[in-house]
Amino acid sequence: MHDLKKLLIERYGKFSSKNIKQKIPKNVSQIISRGSIRKFTKKKVSDEILESLIATAQSAPTKSNLQQYSILIVSDKKNKKKIAELLKETRWALEAPIFFLFLADIRRNQLITEYKGYEYKNNNMDHFMNAVIDSALSMQSLIIAAESWGLGICPISMVRNHLEEIKLICELPKGVFPIAGLSVGWPDEKKRVSPRLSKNLIFHKNKYSDEKIIEELKNYDELFFKKNPIPVSKQRHVDKYGPAEKGTWSENISRQLSIPERTNFSNWLKNNGFDLK
Ligand SMILES: Cc1cc2nc3c(=O)[nH]c(=O)nc-3n(C[C@H](O)[C@H](O)[C@H](O)COP(=O)(O)O)c2cc1C
Repeated sequence: MHDLKKLLIERYGKFSSKNIKQKIPKNVSQIISRGSIRKFTKKKVSDEILESLIATAQSAPTKSNLQQYSILIVSDKKNKKKIAELLKETRWALEAPIFFLFLADIRRNQLITEYKGYEYKNNNMDHFMNAVIDSALSMQSLIIAAESWGLGICPISMVRNHLEEIKLICELPKGVFPIAGLSVGWPDEKKRVSPRLSKNLIFHKNKYSDEKIIEELKNYDELFFKKNPIPVSKQRHVDKYGPAEKGTWSENISRQLSIPERTNFSNWLKNNGFDLK
């Protein structure tokens, strides 16, 4: 599909540009119409494709070319099983032929700096964030490439619920942690285009403005509910709040955000090589 109007209607329920005449490049339409995949066939991903994927990940922009990330593939069956057991209801993620961990990595450059005879003095918040951004950009670059091959993907932040166990399983040293997992494989389900917030909320011209939040939110909730009503089984914290009157996006994210998650994260990082100063 290279028809921008159709693509925008699928993503936002409407389109805002008055005069859409231009055909758009295939990779742009592929990005606008993408969707995560959570069911994969058993078919392997060839070594050539894998090699191309790693190259795309490494071709992403990286802060000062510091390349403060690593990518770990979990291919050992025993380790896949161990991680699947940790992830419980997300165990399907390890059924994909490829499961990556995208790692923020400040360690490698610490070693290099010391090897070159200098003292490393940048174990701080800024470099923590740079490492996370580098890792995230490399993951996104790989995602676009994987989807160009026709592969399906799903990022997995659930790995951050089990940092200590995954550190031991994958022998991650201090200064290295997974920002997310990424399942990659041949899709065994149809992708769904998940509606996004109106660009009026996300895209600002010259000055930030949040005047239209409520108005736009109502429209978005309606659109999301029409396409993708959230069933009770997928609603957050039903045990605390009961089933939602309407399974809308805003109800669900508000419930999610009302309960603290991963409260030990900064402590874990501080004990594992990130000073966060
Ligand atoms: C950093 C990150 C972590 C994610 N973690 C999970 C996860 O643990 N489990 C899951 O099912 N989906 C996960 N996702 C996928 C999101 O749920 C998905 O991208 C979002 O619902 C929008 O759907 P779409 O990707 O199909 O457009 C994650 C996505 C990102 C970017």
